[in-house]
Amino acid sequence: MHKDVERVLISKEKLENIVNSLAKRIEKDYNGKEFIMVGLLKGSVVFMAELMTKINLDFEIDFMVASSYGGGTESSGKVRILKDMGNDVRDKEILIIEDIVDSGNTLNFVMNHLITKGAKDVKVCTLCDKPSRRKVPLVPDYCGAEIPDEFIVGYGLDYDEKYRNLPYIGVLKRSVYE
Ligand code: IMP
Ligand code: MG
Repeated sequence: MHKDVERVLISKEKLENIVNSLAKRIEKDYNGKEFIMVGLLKGSVVFMAELMTKINLDFEIDFMVASSYGGGTESSGKVRILKDMGNDVRDKEILIIEDIVDSGNTLNFVMNHLITKGAKDVKVCTLCDKPSRRKVPLVPDYCGAEIPDEFIVGYGLDYDEKYRNLPYIGVLKRSVYE
């Protein structure tokens, strides 16, 4: 275990099971549909890479970059799109892939943005959810795991751009950010 991690919250094996079952559900729901899987960089990169290889359907992928965190552990609430989708979204079904939903500000903004640009349908698949922290009403369509109000890292999730490469999800020691 990494020295800055207090405890493992979701093991590598558990993550594999979570990703497999989400992939099965998505495969069933999107069978016969034309959709674009859109990852929010950078946190979704590990999750999306694993998830997409397990969905046996034809679909496009794309990425967006949105920022709301100023480098700390709290969302600033102000969301900006730093990189938009390259593919045309008009009349397309979009499945956004996110690492974690916290206040909900980021996804709320990104979803409205895509709908304004003419997407036919926008759904959300998140690996983790912290429902107790929600500031805007947002219920993910697919969620891997609901987690308590603790700051987690690994499997794509960072603190200050570090720990994304950990193969598990762990709770970050408070001493690292306090
Ligand atoms: P929201 O806009 O408040 O919902 O924040 C969502 C974003 O905050 C996620 O995409 C993550 O990048 C980041 N985030 C929220 N909670 C955590 C956490 O516990 N660990 C790492 N990143 C987090
Ligand atoms: Mg982040």
